[in-house]
Amino acid sequence: MQLQPERLHLVLEQWCREFGPVYTFRLIGRPFVAIADPILITQVLRDRPGAFRRWNAIETVARELGINGVFSTEGETWRRQRQLVVKALDPLHLRAFFPSLCEMTRRLLQRWESAARDQRSVDIQKDLMRYTVDVTTNLAFGYDMDTIEGEVIQQHLEVILPTINRRINAPIPYWHDLKLPADKVLDRALSAVQTLTKELIAANRARLAQRSEADAIPANLLEALLMAQQEGEAPLTDDEVLANVFTILLAGQDTTANTIAWVAHFMSILPDVQRKMQEEVDAVIGHATMLEDFDVADTLPYLNAVINEAMRLKSATPVLAVEPNYDVHVGDIAIPKGAVLSLLTREAGLQQGGDSAAGVFDPDRWLTGVSAASHHRAGFMPFGSGPRLCPGRSLALMEVRSAVAMLCRNFDLLRVKDAPEVEEVFAFSMMPQNLRVELRRRA
Ligand code: HEM
Repeated sequence: MQLQPERLHLVLEQWCREFGPVYTFRLIGRPFVAIADPILITQVLRDRPGAFRRWNAIETVARELGINGVFSTEGETWRRQRQLVVKALDPLHLRAFFPSLCEMTRRLLQRWESAARDQRSVDIQKDLMRYTVDVTTNLAFGYDMDTIEGEVIQQHLEVILPTINRRINAPIPYWHDLKLPADKVLDRALSAVQTLTKELIAANRARLAQRSEADAIPANLLEALLMAQQEGEAPLTDDEVLANVFTILLAGQDTTANTIAWVAHFMSILPDVQRKMQEEVDAVIGHATMLEDFDVADTLPYLNAVINEAMRLKSATPVLAVEPNYDVHVGDIAIPKGAVLSLLTREAGLQQGGDSAAGVFDPDRWLTGVSAASHHRAGFMPFGSGPRLCPGRSLALMEVRSAVAMLCRNFDLLRVKDAPEVEEVFAFSMMPQNLRVELRRRA
């Protein structure tokens, strides 16, 4: 009964401290094995899609909702979809997309300038969700949603992931027989987002039909999926295109927004860290108000160390759930087919190198010459690992760096006085609850 979906990761991590890095429990008769050992986790994540798959509840729920895309499919279907998605999110496309990202970061700046002028505190996590939806729809679908200014689809997206999370973890699929108010809200949200995605597909098809043969490079992810469909190369059905559009929208939004929000949280409670970040950003971007050059983000070591440290302590995906396709061994542990593995990736990543204790926020541990590979070996895997490593990683980091650099250059972040404690809430991605900050325009 302790396993409420919103606190799932905290309970599993607490048990890990009580029972050790590998333990087992049963849920409605099904065996679960929790693993926080980085070497074992890496072994499992690498051995996909052969020995392991995502927990089948994820695919069952995704299929019911019409969103069974690259995140939840398996085997040959996954391989075919993955190939196209990875191609569309590669660094070459991202470089070309950078000016549009700047435009969206500028809109976010304007929104926060107005809050700072009116001395309003901001719900930074909500604003960031709008930012990441805008970025994803622009990059992946060639559509300017502009939710930073208008509300529209954002409200619907907000309810989808928490409900999916509750359904995946529900002991029985009660919604087959009985729709609670939350299920009705989900139906409405899905229908609205589906209408939008269908419109996006139609608009991209129409654009493609007018393009000359010579102009064969897809301008966005959706075009790439549609062109592959036309050419019969790894073709996707219409439903698969729709499911993947939806998947990208869901996979790219909360995770990225929550990561930026956690960075903002640490900035607001650690003024010395904030000051150091501001000094670095000021020195690198000079009079500009934000990063305007794709490569400049690589020249901000302290800012990048803060982002890594925020992802280490407040990973947006602290638990990954997989299951074996047949009876397997993980290390010397026999895992029968039918068991579910809860991979506690955040807990695994807490055992880091450096001088300070594992639970302390210390960006310097990333600057001491310890290689990225050794951090990975020690369990730092906020984007997963192996063949299913997050394909949106480069885009996500580009968004996080752009938004954080803009924050540093333009604002001082202060924790709102007497605000309730910031808490972790798990809703497929892990988000800060009660995070309210005050933004003051820097002189
Ligand atoms: C900071 C932001 C993000 C974090 C922390 C994150 C994290 C993750 C993690 C942990 C996985 C599972 C990897 C595994 O199973 O080994 C994943 C998968 C995935 N992510 Fe991300 N992600 C982020 C942003 C994005 C963005 C921006 C997109 C797309 C625009 C995206 C698209 C996907 C997709 C499609 C998958 C499924 C890949 C597969 O199963 O083959 N993610 N992500």
